Amino acid sequence: MVLKVADRGEIPPFIVMDVMHSAAIRESQGNDVLHLEVGQPSTKAPEKVISAAKMALDADNLGYTPALGLLSLRQGIAGHYKTWYGLDIPAERIVATKGSSAAFVLSFMAAFNPGDRVAMASPGYPAYRNILTALGIEPVLVLTGLEHRFQPTVALLETLNQPLDGLIIASPSNPTGTMINDKEMHELATYCKEKEIRLISDEIYHGITYEEKAVSALGSNIDSLVINSFSKYFSMTGWRLGWMVVPNDLIRPIECLAQNMFISPPTLSQLAATAAFQSYAEAEENVKRYAQNRSILMNELPSSGITKLAPADGAFYVYADVANLTDDSVYFCQKMLKDIGVACTPGLDFDPDRGRVTIRFSFAGAQCDMIDACQRIKTWLKFP
Ligand SMILES: Cc1ncc(COP(=O)(O)O)c(C=O)c1O
Repeated sequence: MVLKVADRGEIPPFIVMDVMHSAAIRESQGNDVLHLEVGQPSTKAPEKVISAAKMALDADNLGYTPALGLLSLRQGIAGHYKTWYGLDIPAERIVATKGSSAAFVLSFMAAFNPGDRVAMASPGYPAYRNILTALGIEPVLVLTGLEHRFQPTVALLETLNQPLDGLIIASPSNPTGTMINDKEMHELATYCKEKEIRLISDEIYHGITYEEKAVSALGSNIDSLVINSFSKYFSMTGWRLGWMVVPNDLIRPIECLAQNMFISPPTLSQLAATAAFQSYAEAEENVKRYAQNRSILMNELPSSGITKLAPADGAFYVYADVANLTDDSVYFCQKMLKDIGVACTPGLDFDPDRGRVTIRFSFAGAQCDMIDACQRIKTWLKFP
């Protein structure tokens, strides 16, 4: 008897997770690995968050919370919008989620029907297109290049020949780190409003920027759906806590979906994360370290032969065009890991076609690892 397996799971893997797995095997065999593959800070959560978690463990029964999250946390997040962007967002519009990853599932399910068409930049974060595909929603890839700073523009959207139901943007972007400025954001938000396209803005890398401050889609259209997380700026990846700011028409549908799918986001993380908004100074120290790491990679990689680098205005990634070195980024990354113990991510994760000739380095890790990795790559590419 052969049991049926649903088509939904027939989506591409998240390749970086596969690279992490290979790196773990190498480490378990006693070999060292420099982790430039995963977009994850090597630092702990802020001290006040850890103290709040310890207190909660002793004082709270850690039962379920409301599906949309604890009111105290949602109020804290609303305060964050006032502090950072000068925006008044009512706590009722804020939804705590199990990482921004769960926010994608909830928002896509609430906003789109199977068969709808949702645009996003390619290269871009793979989970957008893979989750949409699993849900029967059609991802429409907008091919962007350095000339567009790897971001969708109104002109590029106009070249698509069928109407859209949604647009997902990410500024700073993963994998390129490039950003959408105030004027471009305004143009995109206005276009979406006029064409009745649901705008979803993934703002997970806000706070991690090196040239300009990131602008929120909410500043251009207060009804945008914004997704964010404690994972990156607050260095809390494993705490699995994110949030959304949702427009009024989606609050109740998202609440019903969240109740049924997840019951509630992790209670311990919610209680602890409320203290994150007293921890900006600590988070800024991490951003300073990323800035130093960024300079190391941007200055050192070109002398190894990896010369075509995206500008990395924000986030903690360097996206490199390595067409001069390979036309098979998966093999290239595997060989780099095997030969010199440097783990990085093949561009195919982010761009299903052109990613054959690109790779992504994460510089979220320790500074000594960045220096060591550049040295190893220089030696490796000279004597492959
Ligand atoms: C652009 C982007 N969005 C979302 C996520 C997922 O983050 P979370 O840990 O909040 O689920 C990532 C993780 O790397 C990311 O790069």
